[in-house]
Amino acid sequence: MRLVIMGPPGAGKGTQAAKIVEKYNVPHISTGDIFRQNLKKNTPLGLKAKEYMDKGLLVPDEVVVAIVKDRIMQEDCKDGFLLDGFPRTAPQANALDEVLEEMDARLDKVINIDVAKDVLIERAVGRRVCKNCGATYHVKYNPPGREGACDVCSGEIIQRDDDKKETVVKRIEVYLEQTQPLIQYYKDKGLLANINGQQEIEKVFDDITQSIGREI
Ligand code: AP5
Ligand code: MG
Ligand code: ZN
Repeated sequence: MRLVIMGPPGAGKGTQAAKIVEKYNVPHISTGDIFRQNLKKNTPLGLKAKEYMDKGLLVPDEVVVAIVKDRIMQEDCKDGFLLDGFPRTAPQANALDEVLEEMDARLDKVINIDVAKDVLIERAVGRRVCKNCGATYHVKYNPPGREGACDVCSGEIIQRDDDKKETVVKRIEVYLEQTQPLIQYYKDKGLLANINGQQEIEKVFDDITQSIGREI
């Protein structure tokens, strides 16, 4: 199954992606996670991405497209994948169409998580992540069982550098300008499943699996 999950910063893409890949057994490809992993290892890619991420801006299309193209052509993606945070611009969406065509494959569903702007800011600013495994928490809505330690791996829980309020506001602005138009693009292709993201995490997940199940 080939899926895309999209939505504004803090909508819950990563949270739902973790559950989707477990249920459907496909690799989770998050471009944001790829950049953060690279930064952790101080690679040139990580350092370049950081320049943009810290300002709340998008990493240039050619950089992101090359990475995703390379990733989805790997063996473990041959039966499917879940793209999280890609595509984010019209050129990225076109590039994805081209790669899929080369692979003689097509997307099954594009899940759009819909959340109001004021809720997004609260979610992103209150988010905490595991430094070790990347598991996502929220100080109020989804705290770890033991304060400061990851439920999955006991790793240290930290705040993302781009989750400061000013940066989150900028990320939302960039989303509205460059990424939101893709909703119509996928609606026109008949691939869009619009999901209400302002519900309990489990209820959002139920709606997602139902929307996938209806047509696959
Ligand atoms: P990326 O890492 O993709 O960040 P993002 O799109 O801004 O989205 P987030 O990860 O912030 O939010 P999310 O939707 O995953 O929400 P989450 O599940 O964590 O990208 C970061 C940066 O990398 C970009 O700004 C850009 O610079 C660069 N980049 C990445 N991809 C790129 C691309 N394709 N092109 C160019 N540049 C790119 O949830 C948020 C919080 O809410 C958590 O605390 C969670 O616990 C909580 N929560 C989740 N669901 C619920 C719920 N239902 N109820 C209550 N709380 C909830
Ligand atoms: Mg995410
Ligand atoms: Zn962890």
